[in-house]
This record gives sequence, structure tokens and C-alpha cells, in this order.
Amino acid sequence: MGKQKVVISTDLCADLKSFLSSASYDKLFVLTDTNTRDKCLPFIQKVPQLKEARIITTDAGDLNKNIEILAYIWRILSTEGASRNSFLVNLGGGMITDMGGFAGATFKRGIRTLNIPTTLMASVDAAVGGKTGINFNGLKNEIGSFYPPECVFIDCNFLRTLDRENLLSGYAEMIKHALISSIEIYTSVLLFDPDSKIDYSFLNKLVAQSVAVKEKIVEEDPKEKGIRKALNFGHTIGHAFESLTFKKDAPVLHGHAVAAGMVCELYLSHKVCGFPMDRLRQVISYIKEYYRPISFDCTDYDTLCELMTHDKKNEGGIINFTLLAQIGDVRINQSVTKELILESLDFYRESFGI
Ligand code: GLY
Repeated sequence: MGKQKVVISTDLCADLKSFLSSASYDKLFVLTDTNTRDKCLPFIQKVPQLKEARIITTDAGDLNKNIEILAYIWRILSTEGASRNSFLVNLGGGMITDMGGFAGATFKRGIRTLNIPTTLMASVDAAVGGKTGINFNGLKNEIGSFYPPECVFIDCNFLRTLDRENLLSGYAEMIKHALISSIEIYTSVLLFDPDSKIDYSFLNKLVAQSVAVKEKIVEEDPKEKGIRKALNFGHTIGHAFESLTFKKDAPVLHGHAVAAGMVCELYLSHKVCGFPMDRLRQVISYIKEYYRPISFDCTDYDTLCELMTHDKKNEGGIINFTLLAQIGDVRINQSVTKELILESLDFYRESFGI
């Protein structure tokens, strides 16, 4: 699997122009959704090479990350004569970078892809690391591949138009990267206040730092055989919360579910690996200040455990957790009793007064 290049850009058009000038390719395609076509595409179309690109547009939202829309993208690539030496530029949030990445991975057994994430979630997570895919059979990212883009261009200027909820959703992954890496990174991440006037140059630095954490892990273990599982911290219970809110027709954004998942999994970390309680309280107080609680009660516990068992990261029906002994001291493949998982759900509800 090739290594992707990540450019943290302060002048996206100049960086794209120079990348495309030095690359040799035949055709350019840009995948957008209706939002990024209207809000972000005009900005990059200042790049001369992109003026002639064929634009492919899908409806926005994760529900569109499906086989029908994927076939629509393949069809346009096919009828417009895309070759293995064509570029597909994925301009959007995680839905676009996941699905465009997978279209690129599969069309003619692989064409060239570039990611330009436009949300914080995609910038620090989805667009980086080579995971691509679509939802299938009611399951998120059920079909996919590891197929890194040649380059990811991250420009925090796109984040200026993000609403608070989407900003916080991406920020949860940055808190996760901080918790699995070092005290220094953790301390800087907790300094960010999404409710005061946002300092975008500080955010840019935090994003660069967060992406570097992910890149280092992915480089070591691109196909998630071992240490890449560190990136699943907060996600075993987080995904279950996400699916539960979806079932209840009151979906929360991925990062908000992960923030709640991290609270539960820090509790498990405390119980199983001795993660310090004072740090746990500090993380809870940050999450409590900015993230609304996930609404659930003890009648949801069985469903939540069932959802955790079906997470595709598990093998043989055993729920596998990534836990922490300290900030930066990651323990993968931890199995936990059902009693303790339920205790962690109780702990969340007590902590958030629900
Ligand atoms: N989002 C977790 C990973 O890329 O492995």
C-alpha cells in the first residue's frame, strides 16, 4: 500500500496548482456533493487545471454513501473515458472521501485519487489513512478497501463555514488522537474553546498535530492488524450510541457519539488498566461543557450490547476494546465483562445527570 502525502495548506489553490503541474495524468474528475459543489468548488476552480475537470455531484448526507450512487460515479467515469492515469479529486466531508476513495480503488482496479476534506471530521480522520468504503445492507462502511489517496490537501479555511455541531464532531476525534498520543498534545487540545471567537491559526496547528498522530500510526500498521486499533478508542461504545440514536430517529453526529463513547471507555480504562481517575474527571468536564449528553436509559442496555457485539472490528462474538493505562499508553485487544460494560453506561448517565 503506497504512502499518502499530506499537505497542510495555507494557500490551497497554489498548492493544488503546483501538485497538478508536476503530475502527469490524462483526465481530471472532481467528486462533490451538492453542498461542496456550491460552497467549496468555486474556490478550487481558480486552479487552471481544474477549470476543465468533469464535475460529478451527489446529494449530501451519509445515506447517499451507497451502492446506487457508487454505480452512478463508476458510470460517469466509464462513459467519460477515465483511465488508470486519471485523477478523481474528492472534495467534501467523510461521505465524499470514503465513497470517492472506494470508486477510485475499484474503477479499472484503481485510478489515482486526491482528497480535499472540507469538514474537520474528514480533515483529521476520514480523508487520511486510506480507509474507503460505502454503507451496505444497513451497515456502515460494510464494503470497502484500504486505498490511500496520492495526496490529501487540508485547508482550515473550509472550516470557517462549519457549524458548531460539525466542528465539535471533528474535535472529538482530535481529543481521541490526543488521548492516545501524549500529555503535551492532550494539554494543547483542551485549550481550544469552541464557544469563544475561533482562532483558526491555532486550530490549523492543532489539526496538523492531530493528523500527524494518525499518520504515524497508519504508517506503522496500514491494514489495522495491531496498533492502528488505537484509533478505535472510544468507538466500540461510540458506534453503538451512534446506531442507537439512528434507530430512535434522533441521530447524533459521529463525533458526538464518540465523545460519549470515550467517557465510557475511559471508565473501562480506569477499571481494567488503572487509568487515573483525576484525568478521567478532567476529560469528562471538557466533554460535559461542550457536548450534549446522549439520551438513553437502562432499557437500551441490551440493544447497546448487541450493537457492540456486531461491530465489524470484533472477531468470534467477543467485544474487543482499545483502552488506556495512561494518556499515550494504549492497550489494544482488551476484553471486558458485560457487567463492566453496563457499569460504564451507568457511569456515563450518572456523570451527565441523565
Ligand atoms: N478512523 C479510524 C481509522 O482510520 O483507522
